[in-house]
Amino acid sequence: NFSNTTSLNAIKTVTVVGGGLMGSGIAQVAAQAGLNVNLIDLKPELLENAQKSIQNNLQRVARKLHKDSPAQIEAFVKDASQRIKVSTNLEDGVQADLVVEAIVEKLDVKQELFNKLDQLCPEHTILASNTSSISINEIGAGIKRKSKFGGLHFFNPVPVMRLLEVIKSEQISEETYQAMMEWGKSVGKTCITCKDTPGFVVNRLLGPYSAEAMRMYERGDATKEDIDIGMKLGAGYPMGPLELSDYTGLDTNKFVLNVLYEKTGNPVFKPIPLLDKLVAEGKLGIKTGEGIYKYKK
Ligand code: 3HC
Repeated sequence: NFSNTTSLNAIKTVTVVGGGLMGSGIAQVAAQAGLNVNLIDLKPELLENAQKSIQNNLQRVARKLHKDSPAQIEAFVKDASQRIKVSTNLEDGVQADLVVEAIVEKLDVKQELFNKLDQLCPEHTILASNTSSISINEIGAGIKRKSKFGGLHFFNPVPVMRLLEVIKSEQISEETYQAMMEWGKSVGKTCITCKDTPGFVVNRLLGPYSAEAMRMYERGDATKEDIDIGMKLGAGYPMGPLELSDYTGLDTNKFVLNVLYEKTGNPVFKPIPLLDKLVAEGKLGIKTGEGIYKYKK
């Protein structure tokens, strides 16, 4: 497709840059929806892990969809996994209708990637970032195709969480915005729209909530277990705030809070000594075997 516009029907090939937890989840949901996917990461070992976790998560989805049919389960997993091609070379992913970036949360590294993609991708390609809290406009400051750029913010675990935040950049065209909304729907998500504001909708609201939970625990107002049980049974959340922080990763939590504090100056986002200490000790949550809770490896 070498036309100047990208409509939903034109999004057939998606490239995901970044093979971590979010990137592999995004690749999975796109492949499940019947799209061809390139998953790019500089580190081959990350791509190997991504392929393994995609296989596992596809099995979980397939078992849910085709409970009684082992043959259909196998076919679903095979079909979706065959649609995902992995590569360590960015150039293998540039022939795409949509590129979603899910790399490290560092502004300069993201800017460099988008500048490269802007040069290498065909004119019609939409570029999007999955950043959780960095400004979309700052990420795209150096690109020329500003009307074909925005944010697509997914939630962990991507195959399960039904929301997609579609972030409007300053110069996004109505056409690009509509294509992003429709694409989100086509991969099974409910889309909401937010301006390019710190933390968008979900992290802006989860931030003060998880921060105050951490401070309650730090002050000894209640045990960690009781804080979590409180919000599960008293407010209907699937996980308590401290469990969720361990699940998301305390390093990610700290990063999001720091950005929100820097951008808004709101004291609810102020650094939390307990969180800083755990992160400094490498206790990042489930992924390292210990965070606020301890986990069996
Ligand atoms: N892939 C596919 N399926 C998965 C999965 C995955 N990675 N993880 C869980 N599932 C499926 C399971 O197979 C199971 O399916 P079933 O109901 O048919 O058996 C279902 O999801 C529920 O899983 P479990 O039984 O293992 O566990 P739970 O019932 O405790 O659910 C959870 C797990 C879905 C993670 C749930 O606890 C939850 O929704 N937690 C809150 C998660 C959340 O708030 N995420 C947002 C974090 S913020 C964020 O991501 C923003 C970023 O910018 C930081």
